[in-house]
Amino acid sequence: MASVTLNINGVDRTIDDIDPSTPLLWALRDHLGLVGTKYSCGVGECGSCMVLLDGAPLPSCLVSVDSLAGEAITTIEGIAEKDGSLHPVQEAWIEHDVAQCGYCQSGQIVAAVALLKSNPKPSDDDIKSAMSDNLCRCGTYKRIHEAIKTASKGGAA
Ligand code: FES
Repeated sequence: MASVTLNINGVDRTIDDIDPSTPLLWALRDHLGLVGTKYSCGVGECGSCMVLLDGAPLPSCLVSVDSLAGEAITTIEGIAEKDGSLHPVQEAWIEHDVAQCGYCQSGQIVAAVALLKSNPKPSDDDIKSAMSDNLCRCGTYKRIHEAIKTASKGGAA
């Protein structure tokens, strides 16, 4: 067991007595109470556990906490502004009423934020490609696509 300090949403968080091989997903959910990041497939194939690592999407089920010291990790809880105002992607999600059951949606939003940060005006093909690792059992793909288009028009990211 070890003590690990992670930078989560701009704040250093120390976890004591944790197995250093613990996947980030479980550190977030079970040790830090950040349960917006969801467990689904557990093998990095569905996108439900997506977080940002220095702004790039990362399936948090795949990476152990001991490899993340000094890295900036952003979870769904850190996507909105510090004053509580929503990120343009979140605003677009509401406008398009994207979520159905909602289970996959934190990972979808995180992936969309990463896309627009790296490519503020994505083409349809860019969106399809960037979001292809995020699965939705409810089939909300069309609304996700439209919400990303709307956020991109508003200058999201
Ligand atoms: Fe239900 Fe995506 S909204 S899994």
